[in-house]
Amino acid sequence: NDQKRKQITEGLELLTKFYHYLLTTAKYGSSGMRYLEERGFNSEMIERFRIGYAVDSWEAVTHLLQKRGVSLEFMEHAGLIKKRGFDNKYFDRFRNRIIFPIFNMSGKTVAFGGRTLGEDKPKYLNSPESDVFHKGSILYGFHLARQAIRKSSQVVLLEGYVDVVRAHQAGVTCSVASMGTSLTEAQAAALTRMADTIIICYDSDTAGIEASFRAAELLQGNGKVIKIANMPEGLDPDDYIRKFGGERFKSDVIGASQTLMTFKMNYLRRKRNLSDEGDRLLYIEDVLRELASQHRAVERDHYLRLLSEEFSISLDSLKKQLHQVSVTAE
Ligand code: UTP
Ligand code: MN
Ligand code: MN
Ligand code: MN
Ligand code: MN
Repeated sequence: NDQKRKQITEGLELLTKFYHYLLTTAKYGSSGMRYLEERGFNSEMIERFRIGYAVDSWEAVTHLLQKRGVSLEFMEHAGLIKKRGFDNKYFDRFRNRIIFPIFNMSGKTVAFGGRTLGEDKPKYLNSPESDVFHKGSILYGFHLARQAIRKSSQVVLLEGYVDVVRAHQAGVTCSVASMGTSLTEAQAAALTRMADTIIICYDSDTAGIEASFRAAELLQGNGKVIKIANMPEGLDPDDYIRKFGGERFKSDVIGASQTLMTFKMNYLRRKRNLSDEGDRLLYIEDVLRELASQHRAVERDHYLRLLSEEFSISLDSLKKQLHQVSVTAE
C-alpha cells in the first residue's frame, strides 16, 4: 500500500509537470493560456500555483503514463484516467480543461481540479477521493500561504481555486480555500490551529452567505477571532478584485470584516425597512432570536446594548423579551 501511494504520488507529480508544460507551450496550450490571460492571471501565479492545461485529447495523458511505465490501475484509482466499458481501454479523464493542482500541506500534488474553458458541466471536475486525496482535510493553497499566515497570525478563507490565485496575485497571500462552501471539521481544526484570526470571505450569494454562518459556527469556541467579510451582492473575491482592485479588497473587504453577530445583524437588517415601525419591531425580534442561541453572556449583553441604544428601548425590556424568545425556542 505504501508502494501504491508512492507510485500515485509520482504519477501526480509527473502529470503536474505535464499539464503545466502543455499550458506554457504555445503549440498545445494557446487556448488555455488565452483563457487565463483573459481572466487576468499573470505568469507569476501560473508558476506559483503550477497551473496547467489538459489538451482536448482522449489519450495524451494515458500515452505518457504508459510510456513512463506508471501503473495505469493506480492512476485510475487516483481518478486521472478511466476505463472504457466495451474494450477495457483507458482514456484521459481531464480533457480541454485548465488544471489546478491541489497540494497537500507539504506542497505535493494529491489531486487536480479541472475547469472547463466554456460552459460545460461540471464547471470543475475534481479528482475523486483516493489513497492520497481526502478532500475534506485539504485547504487549497495552504502550503503557499503558510508563511504569510504565520507572520500575520491571520488566515483568509475563500471558496474557490481562482479566488485563492487572485488573492495571492493581489498580495493577500494568507488566503486558502475550502474548495466549495462546505467547510469540514478537519479543515476547521487546521484553520484554528494555524491562526488567531480567521476571516471568512465566501461568495456573496445566498449559498455563500449561509455557508459563512455555518463555517463561523464551526470555527467558533476556540478562543480565536472569527470574522466574516462583506462584499456587494453577487460577487466573489475574484470578481471583486478584478472590479475594484486589490487595495480596496484589503481595506473595504478584509479590513472591514465583522464578527458573526454583527454580520448577521446587517444581513437581517437588509431584509427589513427600518424606517417602518412594524419592520423595526420585526428586526428587533430577528436579532433577539439570534441572540437567544448565543451562549456567551458577555456577547449577548454587548449586542443587547447596541439594540437598546439604536432603538431607544430599555435594556430591561429587551432582556425580558430575549428570555421569552429563548423559552419559546426550547
Ligand atoms: P464557484 O462556482 O463559486 O466557482 O465554486 P469559482 O471558484 O467562482 O470559479 P469561476 O470563477 O467560475 O472559475 C467555488 C469552488 O467550489 C468548487 C471548486 O473548488 C470551486 O473553486 N466547485 C465548484 C467544484 O468543485 N465543482 C463545481 O462544479 C463547482
Ligand atoms: Mn513554468
Ligand atoms: Mn460559489
Ligand atoms: Mn465563486
Ligand atoms: Mn468566480
